[in-house]
Order: sequence, then structure tokens, then C-alpha cells
Amino acid sequence: MGNQKTQGQTSYDISIIRPQMCSEDFKMRGKGMEPARLKAIRKGLLALHTLELMAMTIYKFQITRENGEFNRQLIAAMCNEMTHYQDFQVKLYEFGFKPSIIRLAYWIVGFTFGFGSRLLGSRTILKTGIWVETKAVHHYAELLGNIDWDQDTRQVIEKDQADENGHINRWKKLLLESKSED
Ligand SMILES: [Fe+2]
Ligand SMILES: [Fe+2]
Repeated sequence: MGNQKTQGQTSYDISIIRPQMCSEDFKMRGKGMEPARLKAIRKGLLALHTLELMAMTIYKFQITRENGEFNRQLIAAMCNEMTHYQDFQVKLYEFGFKPSIIRLAYWIVGFTFGFGSRLLGSRTILKTGIWVETKAVHHYAELLGNIDWDQDTRQVIEKDQADENGHINRWKKLLLESKSED
């Protein structure tokens, strides 16, 4: 599965679930930027941070106790979303911003989608994943297009968007396979 090509972003290796970060990768950002640019960056990072909290919560509550391949894939997806959540939390603080307090509401939405779909079975889990991830990819595209990001942050967003595309492809493939088993 290494180097799997994703729509639009071919240079990101989505087989890397949690890219390595060294101490010099952390930087204080935003110095000398226009207030309007900073305001847009803050809004974008807050949206991404809360979205990723929802995504990681969905996967977390979709995982069952069963010792099988499907759970293994869900755990990898959860870890990937936890990485995205970290990515944007780090960027928020690097710019001197703080995470949103109301993000807990996104935890509740994530729990509802995650636990609700788990109760309905693996096909609903897959369909929920595809639906949520497709929304996320569009949201990512909008934020990439509308905001003047610094290069480092833009690359993180592009890699994470490629990961979301990877999730969509994986769940679509599994859904197709489960159909042929019926
Ligand atoms: Fe994500
Ligand atoms: Fe995702």
C-alpha cells in the first residue's frame, strides 16, 4: 500500500500514519503577518482542529472488541486522525492561538456518529466514514484555497487531506468487498 496515489496530491506518502517530528520542526509563527491574514489562519486552524477531534472520536467509538482486520484498519485510521488533531493543535499554539473551548461539542457529534454507526454494523461504519471523510476533503480544499497559509502549515494540511482521501478509498474498497460477500 506504500506510496498509494491520492487525488490531486501525489507527493504525500499516506502509508505514513504518524510522520516524525524533530525539535527543530516546531517554530513560532505569524511574526510580521497582516492581522487579516492571521485572523483567517486562526479561523482555519480552529475549524481543522475541531474537525479532527470529531474524526478521531468517530473512529474510536467504531472499534469493537473483535480481534480482526477491520478493527486493525479502524485503529490505524484513529491514530491517523489523532496525528491530524496534534498537527493543528501544535500549529494553533505556534501562532499564539488557543484551541476552541466549544470543541467538546464536536466530541459529542463524533461519539454520536461513531457509536451510532457501530450499533448498525460494519457497512454503516464504512458508509459513515466515507460520508464524513468526503465532507472533510471538501472542507480542506476550501481552506487550502481561501487562506494564505505559510508553507509549513500548508504542507501539513495537504498531507492530512491526502490521508482523508486515503481513508475514503480504503472504506470504499472494503464496502465493495463486503457487497460481493453478500
Ligand atoms: Fe483527519
Ligand atoms: Fe480521515
